Amino acid sequence: ITVYVPRDSSALGLGAERVANAIQLEAARRGTAIKLVRNGSRGLYWLEPLVEVVTPGGRVAYGPVRPGDVAGLFEAGFLEGKAHPLYQGLTEEIPYLKNQERLTFARVGITDPVCLEDYLAHGGYRGLRNALAMEPAAIVEEVTASGLRGRGGAAFPTGIKWKTVLNAPAGQKYVVCNADEGDSGTFSDRMIMEGDPFVLIEGMTIAGLAVGATQGYIYLRIEYPHAGVALNQAIEAAIQAGYLGDDILGSGKRFQLEVRLGAGAYVCGEETALLESLEGKRGMVRFKPPLPAIEGLFGQPTVINNVISLASVPIILDKGGKYYADYGMGRSRGTLPLQLAGNVKRPGLIEKAFGMTLRELLYDYGGGSASGRPIRAVQVGGPLGSYMPESQFDTPLDYESFSAIWAVLGHGGVVVFDDTVDMAKMARYAMEFCALESCGKCTPCRIGSTRGVEVIDRIIDDRDRAKNLALLRDLGDTMLAGSLCALGGMTPYPVLSALNHFPEDFGEKSVAQV
Ligand code: NAI
Ligand code: SF4
Repeated sequence: ITVYVPRDSSALGLGAERVANAIQLEAARRGTAIKLVRNGSRGLYWLEPLVEVVTPGGRVAYGPVRPGDVAGLFEAGFLEGKAHPLYQGLTEEIPYLKNQERLTFARVGITDPVCLEDYLAHGGYRGLRNALAMEPAAIVEEVTASGLRGRGGAAFPTGIKWKTVLNAPAGQKYVVCNADEGDSGTFSDRMIMEGDPFVLIEGMTIAGLAVGATQGYIYLRIEYPHAGVALNQAIEAAIQAGYLGDDILGSGKRFQLEVRLGAGAYVCGEETALLESLEGKRGMVRFKPPLPAIEGLFGQPTVINNVISLASVPIILDKGGKYYADYGMGRSRGTLPLQLAGNVKRPGLIEKAFGMTLRELLYDYGGGSASGRPIRAVQVGGPLGSYMPESQFDTPLDYESFSAIWAVLGHGGVVVFDDTVDMAKMARYAMEFCALESCGKCTPCRIGSTRGVEVIDRIIDDRDRAKNLALLRDLGDTMLAGSLCALGGMTPYPVLSALNHFPEDFGEKSVAQV
């Protein structure tokens, strides 16, 4: 009998290790032979630790399981999939999971993340095999046809980025994976790296073949130790089996891959600061141009992509660009892994084609707020994303619909607040965050964020409110237009959206425009 208990760090944080141990002990005590597999998380975080048992009818789920529940589960016959208060039915039939369109996350939670045989048995490395038989330009063409855009947040077309690197002449090129997932409320990169590291490794190998790069680096945020372990185990297994190295599957093509730990600053997720950090220097933002695609790591042409962008490449090379592009709406093709967090009843990961509305996400999936109070504001796209009020909840989740209302989808993080939130405090927090994390290279961000905190404090304290509100808007314009990177350049999004949509929290009566 096979039993699955996740090794995902959120599940571990909720006691998965103790649950796994309790299951082993109870099985031994009863003399029952079980095979315990440590899988990734299905992303139904309100049910973690989610224990699954393989039955003839499929995998049956129980959750959230505490160590103290284990004896009772055995007593109830959970190894045969029998009823128990924690019984959730067939995992695949849980509506939260069933209604998703999992392309990039197809294997996450299903396989043993570090078992190459399991990866291969679930369609792994088919994309790479196809890519090995293709010309580099044809691989780039397939990615372009898929419509894939950068999932780190900026949504730049991946195929165009790769084409720039392919056409840049150089002796050495690099593929760098930005795994410095720093946005508040986001965890999709971590879930992939912990739950299916091979898909990222395969995607990076395909990127290497596509642009002629032989060396790859994964810049992993240091706060993700479990992802680091899973990635290194998977890299070792891929090398041993010939999927990485000097002669990939006997093709004569080369690609090496290493994990490097990040330096712990939010700004190191900005691509040029990341490259500086990877070169062993302090994480300071570089001027662009030159783009990393032309002069990136050690001055060489570099593909730098987010984890999810790269992890979406294997399915594109396996099933074709058109298959991927058939999902989505408008210019937003494919799927987006949304991460639902904050004050929400059912937090978790939802991979869906672009186009679902925010309201469907919040209520059909999220089940409303955890507190049971009305949802008042939602921040989409991380700490630099706009706060959205109820009146915007019918916006479809696609890049263009969001930018039309001065909001961003970013990396797909969605943080929910109920009606007890004080939006002036949230605006202050955004400025304070910028002041703390600023790399200090440009004035609007370095000085503006600190002055911004002071201005918001004066507004909150009702000192010269009208004058300070005008000053805050002016400062917002300066930071938007004059900052060197997105940290300073996007801080006005949470600040001014809070002010525009929730003026009553700033003591302002009339709704002013951006
Ligand atoms: P950007 O718009 O400057 O660039 C996007 C990407 O396209 C970059 O990799 C850039 O080098 C590349 N690019 C642009 N023109 C190109 C061309 N002609 N040829 C080849 N490549 C080209 O945006 P940036 O500053 O890289 O990212 C900002 C975004 O990052 C924000 O929208 C925000 O949502 C997101 N973000 C994500 C975080 C996370 O944890 N995932 C944290 C903070 C911000
Ligand atoms: Fe550095 Fe801020 Fe300027 Fe970005 S906007 S370069 S973080 S000072």
